[in-house]
Amino acid sequence: MKVCIVGASGKLGRYMVQHALDRGYEVVGVCREKSVGKLDAFKERITVVPGATNDRDVIKKAVAGCDGVLAVLVPWGVHGYSRGTAQAVLDYAPPGARLVFSCGWHITRDGQDVYSWKLKMFVKVFGSLARLLRFSDLDDQGEACRRVFASDTRWTVVRGSDLEEGESQGLPVWSRHVGDPILKSNKTRRVDFALFMVEAIENDELIHETPAIVGCQTPSALAHGGAAGAQGER
Ligand SMILES: NC(=O)c1ccc[n+]([C@@H]2O[C@H](COP(=O)([O-])OP(=O)(O)OC[C@H]3O[C@@H](n4cnc5c(N)ncnc54)[C@H](OP(=O)(O)O)[C@@H]3O)[C@@H](O)[C@H]2O)c1
Repeated sequence: MKVCIVGASGKLGRYMVQHALDRGYEVVGVCREKSVGKLDAFKERITVVPGATNDRDVIKKAVAGCDGVLAVLVPWGVHGYSRGTAQAVLDYAPPGARLVFSCGWHITRDGQDVYSWKLKMFVKVFGSLARLLRFSDLDDQGEACRRVFASDTRWTVVRGSDLEEGESQGLPVWSRHVGDPILKSNKTRRVDFALFMVEAIENDELIHETPAIVGCQTPSALAHGGAAGAQGER
């Protein structure tokens, strides 16, 4: 199994690299040129293709021959970085490859998610401020996901809750909709977010799903039947 990790140098990306290597996968990582050093711990064990993740030539080269592509979608900048990244992956990943994208709970596919006032306020205030100051465009991540949803590739969009560092607790549980009681704790270890992304490559039940995830040991997961590794309500 050969997988490409787009955004490999970030915190989520590096955890994904480790999980993929643990599974014996051959790994190709894409990251910005200035961040290549952040992957030194994996030197000799992975192939690094340096470059912007929305550079179509970089992605074309990196995903060649891959069975899976794990792409970190981030809303940084106001020049369509996220949608450019997603589009390049959709266009150049080999036909039939499993594509797994990351984003946050704020992304909705069918409008059936129920958000807390806190999340709505954050998206509104942070989103407007960030666009005004031109350092981030939350809607870019939204547009990237809309393009993924519309594609006929074998995609999964994993929606992360608030994240924290710490030892792995196991595979997060998930639900189709934010607002479901199992997700109430709104906390996932970043290492386990990465685990869910990597496991999704070989889980065909997640194709064309937008799982919203939460840590399997959080109070809401435990209260609503989410044993370690189990799936949440669907
Ligand atoms: N943080 C949270 O609480 C949270 C919550 C829910 C979901 N998520 C989702 O989780 C995923 C990972 O997020 P994370 O917060 O944990 O961050 P992360 O894994 O550290 O990833 C950040 C990524 O953004 C890149 N990046 C940083 N600044 C950039 C810029 N100006 N232009 C282009 N790329 C830039 C980084 O590349 P370099 O290594 O080159 O800097 C890295 O690949 C994202 O999809 C996010 O939407 C995060």
